[in-house]
Amino acid sequence: MRPVEIKPGVYWVGVNDRFTQLFEGFWPIGQEGISYNAYLLKDEKNVLIDLAKSIKTDEFFEQIEEIIPISDINYVVINHLEPDHTGIITILRKIAPQAEIIVSEKGATLLKAFYHIDHKVRVVKDQEELRIGKKILRFYSTPFVHWPETMMTYEVTEKVLFSCDGFGGYGALRGAIFDDECTEKDFYLREMLRYYTNIVATFSRSVLKAIEKLSTVPIEMVAPSHGLIWRKEPSLVVNLYKRWAEYAFSPAEKGVSLLYGSMYGNTEKVMSSVLKGISQASLPVEVFNVAETHVSYILASLWKNRGVIIGAPTYEGSLFPPMAQVLEMASLKHVQFKTAAIFGSYGWSGGASKRAREIVLPLKWDIVDVFDFNGGPTEEDLKRAEAFGFDLAQKILTQP
Ligand SMILES: Cc1cc2nc3c(=O)[nH]c(=O)nc-3n(C[C@H](O)[C@H](O)[C@H](O)COP(=O)(O)O)c2cc1C
Ligand SMILES: [Fe+2]
Ligand SMILES: [Fe+2]
Repeated sequence: MRPVEIKPGVYWVGVNDRFTQLFEGFWPIGQEGISYNAYLLKDEKNVLIDLAKSIKTDEFFEQIEEIIPISDINYVVINHLEPDHTGIITILRKIAPQAEIIVSEKGATLLKAFYHIDHKVRVVKDQEELRIGKKILRFYSTPFVHWPETMMTYEVTEKVLFSCDGFGGYGALRGAIFDDECTEKDFYLREMLRYYTNIVATFSRSVLKAIEKLSTVPIEMVAPSHGLIWRKEPSLVVNLYKRWAEYAFSPAEKGVSLLYGSMYGNTEKVMSSVLKGISQASLPVEVFNVAETHVSYILASLWKNRGVIIGAPTYEGSLFPPMAQVLEMASLKHVQFKTAAIFGSYGWSGGASKRAREIVLPLKWDIVDVFDFNGGPTEEDLKRAEAFGFDLAQKILTQP
């Protein structure tokens, strides 16, 4: 893309990634893409804030050269060392050796570990300021949004928060770069939730701390390092991140994620009756086949719904493996405060529901019903399944 002036003397110089299939080598973004937003501040001193993954390096440097010669970059602020924002640093160091790198104290350690860079590095403290001419940068330490070294950079005169991973989301930029220019906001908000749950959710307490710390800072524009720039309604994304972070500590929205897997259709048949029961109670429901849907998408649903239904057959004395994987991921991501129910078919001695319970035990889910049935469902089983769905839905709907 071409650079975009987002405020006087402040330019977006990011990279739109439509090549990478799996973000962090794991999360699918082949359809959605992602952007690595970097920013150039032109003043008496010229500052780059965050960089990009080491792709499209020619385009990255050409964008900068449209504004200033590379040799005129004075500082490079690295808010966060993860290579999606720093991959380009090795080549940048070679072609702009004059530029001093600004990092937090932990950032300096990681800079040395990842890139073996330890000279022309300036360590900044929490809320330290750096005047670069008319503009003033203030660095806010925001550890664990996403890594321990992470900070956010605030430009005082234009009131722009360069928030790095914070308030970011998946989704390559589609021409529009600002919230108010964008006609696909639903797409970005959906992808922001998926990003939050995949990347940030484990650190929800740190997210709340960061938001609290910034609560008295006047923010006119949130310029994250992934996704849209929020200038019309910067509070929208701050409030969304806050709401999602709170779901780590209290029940989420009134809806249910129904996760199922089925080898020969028995569990699937019963699932249809469970869904009928849920719909009779009019509770919103999202359905996922765990063997076919990447856990990235399932996590987003699990995070925002307070209800979970697990439907899976017994497999070799235990839980159908794709379901076990999803629940283990939910456990890793601390998906807590759920009202849940489990059902599934078994052939002889069973074991699926027992294993499902074991996996989610540390998450303290309130498991309100377990329905194991033998082989193909009988008429009675299907009736029981309908009541099973209806009762769970009712329970959720009547919660405070
Ligand atoms: C590969 C495989 C392993 C199985 N292992 C067990 C088992 O260890 N214990 C058991 O009770 N049933 C076991 N079963 C039987 C299934 O749980 C049973 O067929 C069930 O109805 C499958 O439900 P589904 O049609 O929803 O996949 C196994 C079935 C398959 C195909
Ligand atoms: Fe990150
Ligand atoms: Fe990132």
